Amino acid sequence: MEQSNRAQRWSLSGMTALVTGGTKGIGHAIVEELAGFGATVHTCSRNEVELKKCLQEWADMNLVVTGSVCDVSSRAERERLMERVSSIFQGKLTILINNAGTGIVKPTLDCTAEEYSYLMATNLESSFHLSQMAHPLLKASGRGSIVFISSIAGLKSFKNMSIYSATKGALNQLTKNLACEWANDSIRTNCIAPGPIATPLLNSVCYS
Ligand SMILES: NC(=O)c1ccc[n+]([C@@H]2O[C@H](COP(=O)([O-])OP(=O)(O)OC[C@H]3O[C@@H](n4cnc5c(N)ncnc54)[C@H](OP(=O)(O)O)[C@@H]3O)[C@@H](O)[C@H]2O)c1
Repeated sequence: MEQSNRAQRWSLSGMTALVTGGTKGIGHAIVEELAGFGATVHTCSRNEVELKKCLQEWADMNLVVTGSVCDVSSRAERERLMERVSSIFQGKLTILINNAGTGIVKPTLDCTAEEYSYLMATNLESSFHLSQMAHPLLKASGRGSIVFISSIAGLKSFKNMSIYSATKGALNQLTKNLACEWANDSIRTNCIAPGPIATPLLNSVCYS
């Protein structure tokens, strides 16, 4: 009885969600959590084989998840992703989780212009642009919610992480701006700033 009450209280049935970077790590867990509570979820990643494998596993678990191959650092690919999301969810999106992101750990003086552009495009520009494009869909849902996945590195100084930290600090500020700017459109904007979580990203950063 208690179990069924809890399930009812937290049901996301009828809600739609886009989670970027859902094939690994934090994004993978978010996809399963949202779908497990009844949301219909769309996710993306760059690796088609891994995406298909995840989609099959979720189908086997009776979770309703679709996916697109998309590199969120590309403006054209982001536009294609949002067109697909709009089409699948018939113009209404309840939840946007801007999760896809990456890191480079290097002394600032060794960072190249390409590395700067790559991190900015993947972590910051993608989240900004996807939020812009999702705005009409979130507004149409009447109860939209954006969540940025920032990092503790956007709040504190960590060694050799200046570009990564700058992208996350910018997401923290973007959260505050959109929370105010889009509140009247019934869109809530929040940000999560995790500490270290054991994922492929953390492993690659620690052991590279
Ligand atoms: N793990 C931590 O300790 C930690 C702490 C604080 C914040 N975070 C943040 O949490 C988020 C997720 O991190 P994670 O540790 O779960 O990373 P992860 O294990 O590397 O997983 C990242 C996911 O995003 C996808 N992805 C990466 N770049 C992409 C791109 N350009 N386009 C589309 N998909 C992309 C990856 O798939 P493909 O590579 O196949 O595209 C994968 O599904 C990131 O924003 C990260 O900065 C992580």
